[in-house]
Amino acid sequence: MTTEQIRKVSLRVFHRSTAVVIAGFAIVHLANHLMSLHSIAAHIAFMDAARTVYRQPAIEFALIVSVMFQCVSGLWMVVRGWRARQGAVAWLQAVSGTYLALFLVIHVSAIAVGRLAMHLDTNFYFAAAGFHVPPFHLFFIPYYFLAVVALFTHVGCACYWSLAGRSPTLRRTSLSVMVAIGAVAGVAIDLSLAGRLQPVTIPPAYLAPYKR
Ligand code: HEM
Repeated sequence: MTTEQIRKVSLRVFHRSTAVVIAGFAIVHLANHLMSLHSIAAHIAFMDAARTVYRQPAIEFALIVSVMFQCVSGLWMVVRGWRARQGAVAWLQAVSGTYLALFLVIHVSAIAVGRLAMHLDTNFYFAAAGFHVPPFHLFFIPYYFLAVVALFTHVGCACYWSLAGRSPTLRRTSLSVMVAIGAVAGVAIDLSLAGRLQPVTIPPAYLAPYKR
């Protein structure tokens, strides 16, 4: 193996390893947001319990470092493979990964500002506030929907490649099922944040940043 090949393989291995850390968090995180379909109280109770784990300094540090590495390595692979990339699935993987990387940079920065600068509890109301102050809903509806779809699509592409050698129908079906789950979960979370599934009253402290 040449030095260049070893570098490419190591980057891919690290990208996959940090993806496992982020995927572990994302399963809990999206389950947390889906709890709001039941009630906001259930969402907040779930978050309080989950935070006792993911807000442990060592765990949160590992998560944030993984997110940063994932974004940089992912965008680097998208740019580096631009000319060689062929086929719809390879492009779907690149587009969904690019959206996820950009989303994560904005999302994690927004949470940090909310927590550290505005001293807000970054719970359901923090995510929902923008849906309730026009015209910000025009940004937040596609922003969160596409994040959930991109996450499931990106994992679906990984499933597609890991099934190399199996029937094309099985590979395509696994990808399509993941995209469909992402779309349904994305719509459900958006409807819940927008207050379309139950009445939502956003506390004034969360609305204030949008009304300045
Ligand atoms: C509809 C979609 C989403 C909504 C409404 C949402 C909302 C939130 C909220 C409110 C927090 C603060 C949590 C807390 O204070 O305990 C948060 C944190 C975070 N979210 Fe999301 N999120 C969504 C999707 C995603 C996705 C798809 C990912 C990545 C795979 C992601 C990654 C993160 C990360 C890394 C944090 C920071 C955790 C920490 O530092 O403790 N989110 N999100």
